[in-house]
Amino acid sequence: MPILSRSEIACGLRGIDHETDVPLTWSGSPPEWLVGDYVHNGPGRFVAGGRQVSHLFDGLGMLNRVRFAPGGATYRNRFLRGRSWRHAEQGRPDRGFSFDPPRSLLAKLSILVTKDPEVTDNCLVNTVEYAGRQVALTETAWHLAYDDELNTTGHFRFNDDLWPGMTPAHPVRDPSTGECLNVVFKLKPPNGYQVWSLAPGTDRRRLIAMVPVRHPSYLHSIAATPTRIVIPAWPLVGTPLHFALRDRPFIHNFRWEPQRGTLFHVVDRASGAIRTVQGPPWFAFHPVNAFDRGDEIVLDCCVYSDPAIIKHLSLSRMIRGNGLPSGHLRRFVLDPARDHCAEEPIPGLACEFPRIDERVVMRSNRLIYAIGEEPTDRTALPGRLRRLDLVSRQVRDWQQAGSYPNEPIFVPRPGGSAEDDGVILSLVLDARRRRSYLLILDAANWTECARADLPHALPLLFHGRFCPLGPPR
Ligand SMILES: [Fe+2]
Repeated sequence: MPILSRSEIACGLRGIDHETDVPLTWSGSPPEWLVGDYVHNGPGRFVAGGRQVSHLFDGLGMLNRVRFAPGGATYRNRFLRGRSWRHAEQGRPDRGFSFDPPRSLLAKLSILVTKDPEVTDNCLVNTVEYAGRQVALTETAWHLAYDDELNTTGHFRFNDDLWPGMTPAHPVRDPSTGECLNVVFKLKPPNGYQVWSLAPGTDRRRLIAMVPVRHPSYLHSIAATPTRIVIPAWPLVGTPLHFALRDRPFIHNFRWEPQRGTLFHVVDRASGAIRTVQGPPWFAFHPVNAFDRGDEIVLDCCVYSDPAIIKHLSLSRMIRGNGLPSGHLRRFVLDPARDHCAEEPIPGLACEFPRIDERVVMRSNRLIYAIGEEPTDRTALPGRLRRLDLVSRQVRDWQQAGSYPNEPIFVPRPGGSAEDDGVILSLVLDARRRRSYLLILDAANWTECARADLPHALPLLFHGRFCPLGPPR
């Protein structure tokens, strides 16, 4: 695969300047059973108030939706209009991931002394359903609710006493109970990870445990099994007071200290008991899945040997087209009773944005879907949609010259049970035609079912999900 030209890459990082709602025209045929909403979150705009942001994670959030209805499919995009959006439009952006405008002492102290900290609510990373509401997430205490038309309706607030702080944007949903599990790091002393569970239909979290930690890790995701929660504390760590008081962008407060190793904090979901297992020093954004195997926990992750990927996601580096470091799949086996971490052989697939059939989350899964590239590809963006069978160890790739896919979402066929009885949805950037399209693959044979052009070229996006009957109204 050839390296993209700078202008081809830039088309995917230029951002979107308008909102639209248009019918889609298919090449091929989506399955008739595919009815519902596919919503994807990510950065939509990189210039606001006359200012260019410098990092992919600081783009202003935008929701994209493809609605599959019996009469046809439509595409809609809407920006996430929270407080940080307004401030950015007014030319006085909030502190972001890689950007720290001057802040007043009051704003700094707000992180420590109030439950309404002056931190970004640019919720561009993920979406989830909390208490029957559709909610966009980032890595701060603020969440934005949106309605059926993707319009931002305000902040979503939990109705409980947990102290706000840094929060991974990937709560894990237990498919058996419907609970959402996550942590929030309490920057106000005493510091630590507050581990929580949210039952379906409620906005009040249950505090499962407090894991005391002096130096929090940059934590994008956690993992969980039916009995335990795993906090993979990679050795990219910071000092709590620095996040509040230092004049540095959020991510610049973390330092790489590989000598610490990775500390896997394992929390019993029923008792709140905590054990910590030390493993090798890796960095990761995304676990794939975790499950119990007797007393052990099997945890698959897409890992990097260091956190250099974060720097590579600056817009200027991406436009230079030097390529991104590849994450690779690794399997950790944690034995909390023996404080032991081992690694088990698994195909070391180059991958990112891993997804599985959500029905087998927390159980031993057979299939992993991801995007990725091999180091020999030398492409500027991941160019392959990948399907890994952990049983047969077979890898199947979909790729097309000039096409750069986003996270693959598996949608099961109603009535089907196999992990590949359904389709894969992915929003793909066609850099040569300078627009994106929605691709639908048959998950079993990894061939194209259908595609439809979107009205613009979408940037590299983050996370999406499919709601079979549409969001609650
Ligand atoms: Fe993520």
